[in-house]
Amino acid sequence: MQLKDTGKSAQEIKDIVSKYMVETYKRFDFICEKAEGHYLYAENGDKYLDFFGGVAVNNTGSCNPKVVAAVKEQVEQVMHTFNYPYTVPQAMLAERVCTTLGFDKIFYQNSGTEANEAMIKMARKYGIEKKGPNAYHIITGKGSFHGRTFGALSATGQPGTVLHNNFGPMLEGFTYAEFGNLAEYESQITENTCAIMFEPIQAEGGVKVPTKEFIQGLEALCKKHNLLLLADEIQTGWCRTGETMGYMNFGVKPDIISMAKGIGGGMPIGAICCNDEVASVFTLGTHGTTYGGNSVCCAAAYAQVGVLMDDNYSAKAKEMGAYIMEKLQSVPKLKEVRGYGLLIGVELTEAISVQVKEEAIKRKLLTTSIGTNIVRLTPPLTITKAECDEAVNILTEAINAIQ
Ligand SMILES: Cc1ncc(COP(=O)(O)O)c(C=O)c1O
Repeated sequence: MQLKDTGKSAQEIKDIVSKYMVETYKRFDFICEKAEGHYLYAENGDKYLDFFGGVAVNNTGSCNPKVVAAVKEQVEQVMHTFNYPYTVPQAMLAERVCTTLGFDKIFYQNSGTEANEAMIKMARKYGIEKKGPNAYHIITGKGSFHGRTFGALSATGQPGTVLHNNFGPMLEGFTYAEFGNLAEYESQITENTCAIMFEPIQAEGGVKVPTKEFIQGLEALCKKHNLLLLADEIQTGWCRTGETMGYMNFGVKPDIISMAKGIGGGMPIGAICCNDEVASVFTLGTHGTTYGGNSVCCAAAYAQVGVLMDDNYSAKAKEMGAYIMEKLQSVPKLKEVRGYGLLIGVELTEAISVQVKEEAIKRKLLTTSIGTNIVRLTPPLTITKAECDEAVNILTEAINAIQ
C-alpha cells in the first residue's frame, strides 16, 4: 500500500501514526514506499543509502528477488497451517540450516527474543533434568542485549536502564558478569548454574568485540563445570560478521545457538539449533508456538540461506568490512572503529551520535546510533566499495556539521 492509494498527504500519515500508534521508536522522518537492494525510497522520491539494513536483517539487500519469488510462490500455496501437517519449506530449511551449521536439530520461532526464550527454556530444562531441581541459573554478559520478552529481557545484562526499569521483577536465575572478564564469570558459577549465554559481539551494547581468548575461555569454563554454552547469534548470524555464524570467528562450538534477523530475508522468523542430546529435553507438548515454522517465513528463509551460502556472503562481508573500516579511520572526532565483517561500531570522542545520525539522514544516509557516542553500521552484505565511500563521505560531513 502506498501514499497514492490513500488520498492522504505524507503529513496526514505521520499524524495518524502519532494519534493511533504507541510509539517507542524515534522515526526516520520519511515514509518508506519502496526498499530495494541497498536503498530505501521515500514518498517524495528521495533515495536513502541503507547502512542499517532494517537493523542487521536485510543481509542480501531489501527485497532480494529470490526471497521475493519464494514468498510469492509459497503465499499462494500454504500461508499457515500450524505445526500439525508436515510442510515442505520447514523440512527443506531444517535440513539446509542443520547441515550448513553442523547441528542436529532446529526449532522454529518467530523472532529473536522468542528464539532466546526457547534457548533459555531448553537450557533450564536440561539443567534441571540432568543436574537437579535448582540447576536453572544462567550467567550472561553485562551490557548484553537478548530481547524484550521476560526471559530474554532478564538475560539482558542491563539492569537500571530503560530496558529493565519499571517492568517489575525480572525472571529469577540470571546473573551478569563483566563481558571480557573470565574470572568474574567463573566466580558466578555455582552448583545451580546450567549455562553461560553470550553474544559473539555485543551489538546493541555498543558493538563490543571480545578477544578470542575470552570466548574460548567461556567454552572452557562450560566444559570444566559441565555447563551449556549458549550463543545469541541473532545479530551476528548469517554471514554478518564475515563467517556464517559469529561464534565461528572465535573457534568455539556452542551447545545451542539462537538466530533470527538475517535468516528471514525480511520475513519474521527465529530459530534455535542444538545437538540431539540437548534437544531431547523438548518432548511432546513441552514447548510450542502458533506461527513458529510458518510456511511463508520458512520458504523465505530457505531462499535467503541459499543466497547467503551459495554466493558466499561471508566473504563479501569480510572484504567490504575490511574496506570500510579502513576508510572510517579518517572520520573526524573518531575514538575507535571496531567490529567484524559488516557489523561495525564507530565510536566518537563526543556524545553526538544521535545528531550524527540525524545529519546523515539529511544527507540521505541511514545508520543507527547506540548510546550517546556510537554510530552503528549494518548495511546489506552486498554493499559496494563506491557505496562505502559515499557513506564515509556523508558521515564525515555529518560529523563536521555538528558544532
Ligand atoms: C543479539 C540480539 N538478541 C536478541 C534480539 C531480539 O531480537 P528481536 O528484536 O527479533 O526480538 C536482538 C535484536 O536486536 C539482538 O540484537
